Amino acid sequence: MSNRTILITGGAGFIGSHVVRLFVNKYPDYRIINLDKLTYAGNLANLKDIEDRPNYRFVKMDICDFEGVLALMQDEHVDGVIHLAAESHVDRSIKDPFTFAQTNVIGTLSMLQAAKAYWEGLPEKYEGKRFYHISTDEVYGALEMTHPEGIEPPFTTKASSGEHHLAYGEKFFTEDLKYQPHSPYSAAKASSDHFVRAFHDTYGMPTIVTNCSNNYGPYQFPEKLIPLFVNNIRHRKPLPVYGKGENVRDWLYVEDHARAIDLIFHEGKVAETYNIGGFNEWKNIDIVKTLIRVTDRLLGRPEGADEDLITFVTDRAGHDLRYAIDSTKLQRELGWEPSLQFEEGIEKTIRWYLENQDWLDNVTSGEYQKYYEEMYKGR
Ligand code: NAD
Ligand code: TYD
Repeated sequence: MSNRTILITGGAGFIGSHVVRLFVNKYPDYRIINLDKLTYAGNLANLKDIEDRPNYRFVKMDICDFEGVLALMQDEHVDGVIHLAAESHVDRSIKDPFTFAQTNVIGTLSMLQAAKAYWEGLPEKYEGKRFYHISTDEVYGALEMTHPEGIEPPFTTKASSGEHHLAYGEKFFTEDLKYQPHSPYSAAKASSDHFVRAFHDTYGMPTIVTNCSNNYGPYQFPEKLIPLFVNNIRHRKPLPVYGKGENVRDWLYVEDHARAIDLIFHEGKVAETYNIGGFNEWKNIDIVKTLIRVTDRLLGRPEGADEDLITFVTDRAGHDLRYAIDSTKLQRELGWEPSLQFEEGIEKTIRWYLENQDWLDNVTSGEYQKYYEEMYKGR
């Protein structure tokens, strides 16, 4: 279907900016509306390269503003929503759970209600419409680490390579697993997932939910492990590893997530859930050593010279031990697979942060928050 109008929320954030860029470039016939409140995590400089495209519009708005979202959907004749806006950092959710409930739960409900009010008032109602909610694997809780040294998992992917193609237990997150969130972040995301499914089951809204593993790549806010540590290594600042660094995360390159979102938005089955992940489990301490090795090399320092920056600090409260996504459903039904080997993706990512020191400096100094005023005033 050409000439669609798609409302993407949270497009000024990390993953959202990759999704907006992909859709604006790939679908010149679509109109892409990026709705974002520009919290501390929203940075319009992430979208500098596409901000003047004729098929793109930015709207500064809170997803909790039901009236505003409804009016925007009516004005723009929105027929698809890709909902990414959320509070996304676990450590912040531990300090301030109210904000997470407000944005992730009430905000998602406000988006659903606005879509329902607009679409149900049209003659064709839900026909040709889609509400796609982006969620996390953290809703499933934590997996046990039954094989601390790692085992070969019972599946293969192109992206997984020899040494690191390991699993730290036999169990994986599959789509039929019970939700068992532990952090206020994942509890709020779990609640929002339930609301999305309830809108399908109750009102017949054509919804889709996907749950993805940890993303890495350019434009990630430097409070998250990978950009924070690359920046700290560059400045020779301590690297605060929580606990013993034994926790395991499953990492996916952000552009592979964006490609999956494109595929699922267009070809995914209504009311389905798809897990997205790269079968790429890493212990935090091994990631940190890799970050040090590659960053040192790219900076012309002796490889591993900065290992003395590793500082073990008090563990995160309720720190989930292991996340591991089984994405075979998505691979089997829609033919998606990750395109990048982790070794390739991590080097590309580190190189990007080192080559874009202005972006990192702007974010760490707070300068980036002036971008909207400077670029969008009077537009
Ligand atoms: P992010 O924190 O980088 O970006 C979030 C964006 O949402 C920001 O631009 C922010 O300004 C905007 N936003 C926040 N509150 C808002 C509100 N009330 N109204 C409008 N906009 C608001 O997040 P991210 O890492 O890009 O994650 C995007 C989505 O993907 C989230 O829903 C997250 O739960 C999910 N997810 C993230 C990961 C990951 O590894 N980062 C993995 C799986 C799923
Ligand atoms: P993070 O990037 O915050 O993602 P998430 O909590 O959503 O998985 O953290 C990734 C892992 O790195 C997680 O196990 C916590 C750990 N971590 C540290 O050890 N130190 C840090 O300073 C940060 C930010 C994270």
